[in-house]
Amino acid sequence: MNLSARLDDLSIIVEVTSDRPLSAPVFCFSLMAPAKVVRGGTLVQAVASYHEVELPDLVPGTGHEIVLQHLGGFRPANRAWLPLGAYLRAEGEIIELPALPAGVTQGDLPPGEMPDLRIVPPVTRWSPVGGQVSVTGFVSDSDDFEPVVQLAERTGLGPFLIPDGLPLIQEVDGQLATEAYRLNITESGVSLAASSESGRFYGAITLLTLLHTHEGQLPLGEIEDAPRFEWRGQHLDCARHFFEPSTIKRLMDLMALLKMNRFHWHFADDEAFRVEVESVPELWQKTAFRGEGELLPGLFGGGPRAGGTYSLDDVAEIIAHGQALNIGTLPEIEVPAHSYGMAKVLPGLRDDADTGAETSVQGYPENVLSPASDQTWEVLGQLSAEVAGLFPLGLIHLGCDELPDGAWDGSPAIDALKKREGLSSRDDVQGWTMARLAGQLAENGHSPVAWEEAARGSNGGIGHGAILQSWSGQGPGIDAARAGYDIIMSPAQHVYLDMAHSAETDDWGASWAAFIPLEETINWSPVPSGAEDIADRIIGVEGCFWAEFTTSDQQIEPMLAPRILGVASKAWDIRDSLTGESLRGLARAYLPIFDSMNWVTALR
Ligand code: ACM
Repeated sequence: MNLSARLDDLSIIVEVTSDRPLSAPVFCFSLMAPAKVVRGGTLVQAVASYHEVELPDLVPGTGHEIVLQHLGGFRPANRAWLPLGAYLRAEGEIIELPALPAGVTQGDLPPGEMPDLRIVPPVTRWSPVGGQVSVTGFVSDSDDFEPVVQLAERTGLGPFLIPDGLPLIQEVDGQLATEAYRLNITESGVSLAASSESGRFYGAITLLTLLHTHEGQLPLGEIEDAPRFEWRGQHLDCARHFFEPSTIKRLMDLMALLKMNRFHWHFADDEAFRVEVESVPELWQKTAFRGEGELLPGLFGGGPRAGGTYSLDDVAEIIAHGQALNIGTLPEIEVPAHSYGMAKVLPGLRDDADTGAETSVQGYPENVLSPASDQTWEVLGQLSAEVAGLFPLGLIHLGCDELPDGAWDGSPAIDALKKREGLSSRDDVQGWTMARLAGQLAENGHSPVAWEEAARGSNGGIGHGAILQSWSGQGPGIDAARAGYDIIMSPAQHVYLDMAHSAETDDWGASWAAFIPLEETINWSPVPSGAEDIADRIIGVEGCFWAEFTTSDQQIEPMLAPRILGVASKAWDIRDSLTGESLRGLARAYLPIFDSMNWVTALR
């Protein structure tokens, strides 16, 4: 069996070659977006980006060509837009086709400029005194460094502490802010001052990093350092692709090395709900796997079967892994849209009299829950309370992005709700829904986080002290900040690390927001000029990784590295001091660290 595919302007040209005669096989595959068949077969079934195309009889050894085009003139950008998870269903059998080459092809890291102190994120102040000291590790009899000792072991950067290392002396300085630290590196030893465990942790992370980026020759001088933002996040979409718990922990290790402190765990979306909640078990039981014979077909690279769930033990382990690294885990459940799977499992969460024909941006019909259904409130109440209760951060992300045009328009029950509650638009209904859900959470002592759209609606949106995440750009975040919301900046044009690095068709990744070369991750300001009035409301920066085209865990590595260096710098660096040149220099300095972690980078 063979499969090849290529792009030709708007077209995706696929060739299937069978090694035996097959009568009317059905070619099953997913793409990045819904498509039509231009030539070579008949579309017999489609759910969003998943397609089944009946082919004519296949003759052994003779390739059969199928030409596809995305609906709406969507232009395929690169290899990630070719068929994923392709297989044939023929004569009662599932016949897997070889996967097309997947993932970023490594490129050359262009020359950069090496900063004096090779560390990401850059420190607030570096006062060199000249000279250096040769170091292979540090010596301390304190247990306080245990999290860094273990991190160093796991990442291959250890040992951090050794019997005859450079003395590492701790000081408590109550004047320092919680996550701040001061290091004085001399020939006879290092003093590390902090006022808290997290400050001490970050001071030690700086030492561990310098040990490797300066090849064992620590420069002498004083470092004073503190973060600009309290929220320094990385998001991972574990709904479209099931990432193993070990991959999540590895990502947390990398985040900790870059002083990032929030893991945003996106485990629920149209395609799956992956945490083994006890309150609504059918939700994960019926969406854990997709493919042949499952409730949901092989969407987004699922093939004949793909998926998985996180047990409550996995959840506890992931949370604990993060806590040891000063990383809090933010769970996300997605409502009211991006709920296709949930509505399939629990049809009572929609109004069955709804005649609306809305389609989500990713091509799903009926992916919006109805806030006019009592069952919706019963299920969401249980689910949000259980999920929030599992995560000690005290925050739960409720989603609220991308409500499709036309949602609820054909629903008599929503019409009645609007009348009763004095709501007129779709945004009003959404704002009312989010506020009610947030109010339920608040009763249980939890606070909401949501995507930028949750600020919409005549009632002022979700309220309840919610933190909103600005993703389509920075404008919606700035507007929401002026309306009184705290904001995390995640502008897709700069920190969506699922975007391809370049416009090359031989690259890999999404393209709807931008192509994001390394330098673009820092070519923006979390508080842009003109928004100084709401500077205090911008509480952080978060990178995102969406997994629509991810078919194996390792594919995220070069999407994140080295670009995550830019995201981490934006989140921490008070001086916002990096240039594209220095970021490239630092990316080079971090190659030994990525190598030590066996973490593949896009550039070297
Ligand atoms: C998003 O990217 N739809 C939050």
